[in-house]
Amino acid sequence: MATVMRDFNLLEEPLKEKPDLPKSPKEAVNPLEPKFRVSNLNVFYGATQALHNVSLEIPPNRITALIGPSGCGKTSFLRVLNRMHETVSTSRVEGQVLLGEQNILTMDVTQLRRRVGMVFQKSNPFPKSIFENVAYGLRVNGWHRKGTLHDAVEASLRRAALWEEVKDHLHKSAYALSGGQQQRLCIARALAIEPEVLLLDEPCSALDPIATAKIEELLFRLKEICTIVIVTHNMQQAARVSEFTGFFLLGKLIEFNKTAVIFKTPARKETEDYITGRFG
Ligand SMILES: Nc1ncnc2c1ncn2[C@@H]1O[C@H](COP(=O)(O)OP(=O)(O)OP(=O)(O)O)[C@@H](O)[C@H]1O
Ligand SMILES: [Mg+2]
Repeated sequence: MATVMRDFNLLEEPLKEKPDLPKSPKEAVNPLEPKFRVSNLNVFYGATQALHNVSLEIPPNRITALIGPSGCGKTSFLRVLNRMHETVSTSRVEGQVLLGEQNILTMDVTQLRRRVGMVFQKSNPFPKSIFENVAYGLRVNGWHRKGTLHDAVEASLRRAALWEEVKDHLHKSAYALSGGQQQRLCIARALAIEPEVLLLDEPCSALDPIATAKIEELLFRLKEICTIVIVTHNMQQAARVSEFTGFFLLGKLIEFNKTAVIFKTPARKETEDYITGRFG
């Protein structure tokens, strides 16, 4: 395992900054009731099987990173968690996915997507104003809470760490924002309806290091209010932001554990080879 340490020496500092990591082995993988329990998940596109018998539990109010080489099934896994796979007509899913006690594969999909929001690799604001992008989800879901719509939009933009940058031009087009700002706007839009889970598929892949740092900082704060699952190609990012990491290879979940374990003392040779850059 010495090779892992030598080749991946960037990990020591970032992990030390996480005071709330579970301390005892008993707490390690399942500190509380899992948010998601995935059992024997198989995903197919037509005759192609993208995921094979994946089972794992996603801990609540933690950041879980999913890593692995291109085509290994990370996006397919993530999309099942709010049934976005159903947008692909050839897709088929077998197995069980529980959100709390509810089977997501049979529950009402609108209810599911209220509870499980998603942010995509390429930011996709609507061709509307900044304000309307965030207000949209609230209106669609029947705005009924106390306070004004403006207050709710402001709260979401604050949670997405965007408010200070946009508060003086809320009615400008969302397209006038930078790439990093657009991505935070998409996060604000997803957060507006107060989901329990936020799924992010490579949210920083098109962003520069400063915009990436802002999103990472934001994720740290968001885990107070929701469970986060992030797919990333960037192993440094997985090491910096997540407490748990799952490593996928060829449609299989090879290893799932605390991030520190995955990066410093992985149990499987394939994991070690991947994180030390021997393939990827
Ligand atoms: N819409 C689709 N139709 C058919 N096959 C698909 C579809 N989406 C994904 N696949 C196949 O499923 C497998 C897993 O793809 P997936 O996009 O989940 O991988 P990934 O790990 O997210 O890759 P990347 O890192 O490149 O985003 C691949 O073999 C891919 O070709
Ligand atoms: Mg992908």
